[in-house]
Amino acid sequence: MELKDITVVAPRTSEEAMAIENKYGAHNYHPLPVVLKRGKGVHVWDIEGNIYFDFLSAYSAVNQGHCHPKIIDALNNQSNILTLTSRAFHNDVLGTYEKFITEVFGYEKVLPMNTGVEGGETANKLARKWGYLKKGIPENEAIILFAKGNFWGRTLAAISSSDDPLSYTGFGPYMPGYKLINYNDLVDLENHLQNKNVCAFMVEPIQGEAGVVMPEDGYLFGVKKLCKKYNVLFIADEVQTGIGRTGKMLATDYEDAKPDILILGKALSGGVFPVSAVLADNYIMNCIKPGEHGSTFGGNPLACRVAIAALEVIINEKLSENARVLGDQFRLAMNNLKDETDLITLVRGRGLLNAIVINDTPDSSTAWDICLKMKEKGLLAKPTHGNIIRFAPPLVMTEDQLDECIAIIRKTILEFKK
Ligand SMILES: Cc1ncc(COP(=O)(O)O)c(C=O)c1O
Repeated sequence: MELKDITVVAPRTSEEAMAIENKYGAHNYHPLPVVLKRGKGVHVWDIEGNIYFDFLSAYSAVNQGHCHPKIIDALNNQSNILTLTSRAFHNDVLGTYEKFITEVFGYEKVLPMNTGVEGGETANKLARKWGYLKKGIPENEAIILFAKGNFWGRTLAAISSSDDPLSYTGFGPYMPGYKLINYNDLVDLENHLQNKNVCAFMVEPIQGEAGVVMPEDGYLFGVKKLCKKYNVLFIADEVQTGIGRTGKMLATDYEDAKPDILILGKALSGGVFPVSAVLADNYIMNCIKPGEHGSTFGGNPLACRVAIAALEVIINEKLSENARVLGDQFRLAMNNLKDETDLITLVRGRGLLNAIVINDTPDSSTAWDICLKMKEKGLLAKPTHGNIIRFAPPLVMTEDQLDECIAIIRKTILEFKK
C-alpha cells in the first residue's frame, strides 16, 4: 500500500475501537472494556455517551479533574506562542516555573523531566553522583536501597529494583547496585545503612501500585532520621502520592519528613501530558554539570506553563484539604460496608488514595468482576494485584458526588455473588 492510501479510521462504537486496538496495539495492558471519549471534572464519557465517575484519575495524574479549564487555558495560550526549544537555548518560562515550584516545595533547585520513571532515574543518577563526589564512595560501588513492593515505572532500572516477577521476568540482565529491604521496617533499614557504599534509600510514602500499602505512623520520620544519621540521601517518590492526593501537598508532610530528593510527576501536569520534576538543594543538585544529564522535552515552555497552572489549581482550590475531608468520609463508609459483608477484608488509605482488599486470592477474578459491575452502574475503578481495588477519584469531587459514588460501590458489593 502506498503511504497516501493509508486512511485514519474513527471508530463509531466501543466494540470497533477495542477491536482496532486489539489488532494493532501491543498487548501490554489489560484495560476494563470501556472506551472513553470525553472527560470533565470527575466524569468521563464513553463513545456511546454513557457517563462514569472516574475512580482511577489516570493513576492519580488527573487530581485536578479532567480538562480543568485553568490548565487547559494555560496549555492553549502557551501552545500558540512557543512549545519546545530544547535546553540548547533558554526559554522565557523555564526560570519562572523553576522559581515557583522550588518555592512551593521548599527546595533550592529543580531538574525538570517528563515521565515519572524519568524522575526516578534522575534521582538515582543524582544520588550516585553525590555518593561519589561528596560521600567518597569508590567509583561504581554505590548502592541504592529500595523497599520491597515498590513501583516506579517500567525502565530497565525501575524493574531491576522490583520484586514483582511480572515486572522483571524475562528482561534481564538487571541494573547492579540496587538492594531491596523490607518496607515499613526501620530495623532492616538501619541494618543496611551500615554499608558505607549506600548512597540513598528511595521509597514511596504510601505504596500506590502495590495496593495502597501504608507504613506505620512515624516510619517516614524514622527514615529521615536514620538517613541523616548515616549520611545517606532520603529519596521520596511522590509521583503518585504527591500534589494533594493524600490530603496534604505531599504525603511526607504528614510527618515532617522532608526528603533530600523529591520526585514528582503525574498530577504535576493535571494529566495533560507528561511532566515530572526532581527537587533537591544545591549540595546535591550541583553535583550534576552540563552535559551529564538531560532530556529534549524536559523544561519545555508548554510543560512549565501547564505545571504552574496545575499547582495553582491545587493550592487555590484547596484540593489537598478537600481530599483529606472526603477521604475520611470515604474510609468511614467503606469500613461500615466492611462490617456488613465478608467480601471486604481491609480498607486502607489516606486522603483520596484508598483501597479495599477483597476476600479472595490474588489470582481470582472477584475484584475484576466487581469492577465490571461498578462500571455497569457508572463508576470506573481497576483492581491492582488481583484482589485489591484502588479508589482514587479526582480531588475536585464534591460531598454529594462522593455520596453518590459510595452508594454505587455499596450496592455493587452487597449485590455481588461470586
Ligand atoms: C510511585 C510511582 N513512581 C513512578 C511512576 C512512574 O510514572 P510514569 O508512568 O509516568 O513513568 C509511577 C507510576 O505509576 C508511580 O506510581
